[in-house]
Amino acid sequence: MRQTFGAGAALVLAGLSAVHAQDLDIAQGRRFAEANCAPCHAIGRYGESPLPIAPPFRILHERYAVEDLDEALAEGIVTGHPTMPQFRLEADQIRNLIAYLKSLERPPRAPQ
Ligand code: HEC
Repeated sequence: MRQTFGAGAALVLAGLSAVHAQDLDIAQGRRFAEANCAPCHAIGRYGESPLPIAPPFRILHERYAVEDLDEALAEGIVTGHPTMPQFRLEADQIRNLIAYLKSLERPPRAPQ
């Protein structure tokens, strides 16, 4: 019984389109941001940052292309402000986080 279910799930996973894979990146990036960045930054589409001097993530792309953050995130992002701890992310965490940041640039999807 369990094995049959496993095989079915594997087939479904194999059938995921690139779009779904990207949705997965975005969801994981959001989870990462919630766990690590949300104490200071507003990470969603609305709301103010809990720490007012930390820029809301949705405005980062107005300052620079968020893809350009990948190097900083890999080497350990350091800001001009000592309040922000230094973060060093793994490659897939960076891909996820940038996918999430990019998703904030797009208009929200119509409710499904
Ligand atoms: C303890 C609070 C805190 C946490 C947690 C935090 N930040 Fe920050 N972050 C700040 C502050 C404060 C600034 C503003 C720094 C400045 O203006 O010099 C900032 C700025 C930034 C900037 C803009 C840098 C620039 O030069 O424009 C980015 C990008 C950023 N944070 C990413 C992140 C990411 C990604 C995470 C989670 C992995 C995170 N931050 C977690 C406090 C925090």
